[in-house]
Amino acid sequence: MKLKFALATTLLALGLTAAHAAPIVIKYSHVVADITPKGQAALKFKELAEKKLAGKVEVQVFPNSQLFGDGKEMEALLLGDVQIIAPSLAKFAKYTDQIQIFDLPFLFTNMAAVDRFQASKEGQALLNSMSKKGITGLGYLHNGMKQLSANKPLAMPADAKGLKFRIQPSDVLEAQFKAVGGNPQKLAFAEVYQALQTGVVDGTENPWSNIYSKKFHEVQSHIMESNHGVLDYMVITNTKWWDGLPADVRKGLSEAMTESIKFGNQVAATEDANFRAKVIADNKAKVVPMNKDQLNAWRTAMKPVWSKFEGDIGKDLIDAAIKSNQ
Ligand code: LMR
Repeated sequence: MKLKFALATTLLALGLTAAHAAPIVIKYSHVVADITPKGQAALKFKELAEKKLAGKVEVQVFPNSQLFGDGKEMEALLLGDVQIIAPSLAKFAKYTDQIQIFDLPFLFTNMAAVDRFQASKEGQALLNSMSKKGITGLGYLHNGMKQLSANKPLAMPADAKGLKFRIQPSDVLEAQFKAVGGNPQKLAFAEVYQALQTGVVDGTENPWSNIYSKKFHEVQSHIMESNHGVLDYMVITNTKWWDGLPADVRKGLSEAMTESIKFGNQVAATEDANFRAKVIADNKAKVVPMNKDQLNAWRTAMKPVWSKFEGDIGKDLIDAAIKSNQ
């Protein structure tokens, strides 16, 4: 009788513990607006992860640099203050040289080429290139091709001479603007609007979703349709935290991540043109198409950047990326 009672009490206690086990809290922080491809992917991840792992996980999404801006988010991830972030591929230089490949100007002809390269064996290998530093890549996520903007038309490279350009923290992007006589300044994404508004910088580069959602077109007179480079992301997590998760949770999160990235990439593919249309409809900045001769002049002016970084990035990797254009 006593034994039965003890057993029942233990089972009850175990049951109660299981029922009340606190869910694993997963913070997903990023710097852009909810309506962008990354914003949408993060919200989709929350929805799917909480559905697949009901009661086991709670995903908290922090957009717009609310929790960490881009200067801090990588350290926060390594310290365990945030579990998932998705920095742009221009923000990894401190951790790996190779990912700088994505910043080379005029490397990819369009997003389909970016997609092919990311799916290739070389592209996939980059997801694990920072594991020794404690960072695991969970997948690539698209935003889109970048457009140049300023307070004057930038038809030819000479038009950029002497202008201050906000750039992401990338030496490749620094070299890119120096190659056309510009004066690049590394600034956090959250500071860009004000820097453009107050004239701290004269111009910048970003895809349509970021231009529209952060109103850069309200503080720039001209947006050139340059499509001169890509702005994409790697969704990353803290390796130790990820590897230490219960296997069923890691599996569920992994599936939710794959599906959320697919969703975000669809948003990127379908909404890029809509964000461009919205910028045009707002009628604040003039959206200027660029012809072949103009684009060739920019390509030629920026091409020396490739050889400058070839040693760091690796020629084989650059060749694999070029192949993805076919
Ligand atoms: C930027 O800093 O311009 C971008 O990386 C922001 C983002 O995450 O899209």
